[in-house]
Amino acid sequence: MSTILSTYSDYLVIHGGRPLVGEIYISGAKNASLPILFATILTEEDCLITNVPDLLDVRNTIKLLTQLGANIEFFGDKVFVKPSIKSFTTNQEIIRSMRASVLSMGPLLGRFQKAVVGLPGGCSIGARPIDQHLKFFKTAGAQIRIKEGYIFATIKKKKGVYFKFDLITVTGTENALLYLSSVPEESILENIALEPEVMDLIEVLKKMGAQITVQGRKVYIKGTEKLQGFSHSIIPDRIEAGTFIVAGILTNGEVILRKVNKTHLRAIIEKVKEIGGEIVDENGESLKVFRKENIKPCYIETEVYPGFPTDMQAQFMALLSLAKGKSIIKEKIFENRFQHAQELNRLGANITVRGNTAFVEGVEKLYGAEVYSTDLRASASLVLAGLVAEGTTVVRDIYHLDRGYEHLEEKLKKLGAEIERKTST
Ligand code: EPU
Repeated sequence: MSTILSTYSDYLVIHGGRPLVGEIYISGAKNASLPILFATILTEEDCLITNVPDLLDVRNTIKLLTQLGANIEFFGDKVFVKPSIKSFTTNQEIIRSMRASVLSMGPLLGRFQKAVVGLPGGCSIGARPIDQHLKFFKTAGAQIRIKEGYIFATIKKKKGVYFKFDLITVTGTENALLYLSSVPEESILENIALEPEVMDLIEVLKKMGAQITVQGRKVYIKGTEKLQGFSHSIIPDRIEAGTFIVAGILTNGEVILRKVNKTHLRAIIEKVKEIGGEIVDENGESLKVFRKENIKPCYIETEVYPGFPTDMQAQFMALLSLAKGKSIIKEKIFENRFQHAQELNRLGANITVRGNTAFVEGVEKLYGAEVYSTDLRASASLVLAGLVAEGTTVVRDIYHLDRGYEHLEEKLKKLGAEIERKTST
């Protein structure tokens, strides 16, 4: 947490206590948009990506691609890419501001057999190593040298690869798929991530000409040197949807979410029902969310998809801090993803963290206070808590939120929240 940064950044002022009522449209998924934007490096043909959310991470990715030579127009939710990429060296500054830019490595190696990519650092939720990405590229024949904060990678001859990940990694799987789509021989990856965002990327790589078959946690892939342009609509953001589901339940309101994918939300929906929320399928792509009874405590363990997502852990912690009884949340994906707990405690929650487990003793009420965001989903949990806290909550360092939630205040206002963005002078 940086107090100096917070002095200069935007902050949110929330007057809590209003039930959220109404309907909102869920945006396209951030974590699907990023790898799909990087996939455009692989082709010389035009690409059209729709349902792209206007987020800081998306804009940074576009900046990075533009610096590599792509011609990009972004208007509304549409991104047109004319990929005239000539360079294989990414900008260190952007890489440091956005970890996902390591996803440039696979497509750059696929296209140029060379890549110079800034080494991403750790972040507030954990060390976040990329050893699995590098191990994969080495297995694929890459010579890798790390010097002065950059990864220099070269692949002399592309060949089919057999690789089994030691652990399940989302961007690691995506990086490998992006590279292998350009390799004309058959490859096999085992122990892959099956997150819907990975599947959306696979849809795009297939449209580009790669042959890909997923069997359980194994994928067979045969790429081609000449990948085509594509047109694709990004899947709905399941984490944004999950955040609004929690907002509806927490504030005891009634929220209709439009343009969602119910299948992607299964683990979240099950948990919401377990703790006393109701979710009704309106017409396949819409869900109505409301509270059926008082919030009940529960046990949550974060897992890879289709398990309960780590990206919803913080929001559920805010919700469970008002449950009648004691909940336990075990974070199994990242080692340091509980920084929101102490901030929620400033709002009156009663949360104790021991190692990777948080014990949440439900309280009657939360009270407004000044709190600091530490990462994207932590920020969301503080906003949610602010929506039900008595009095005024100020959430600082919200640049984290802007990385991953499109028009959050506008959407919340539309549902009746009293929330305002202000800028420190
Ligand atoms: N890991 C390694 N070595 C590796 C790669 C990962 O040890 O080479 C570890 C990580 O440190 C972590 C675990 O494996 O403990 C899982 O990390 P993973 O690689 O799956 O995470 P990621 O690909 O860096 C993506 C999302 C995250 C989301 C995680 C888990 C993107 C751009 N980011 O990160 O999203 O939390 O998967 O589902 O897709 C967010 O949107 O707020 C966010 C952090």
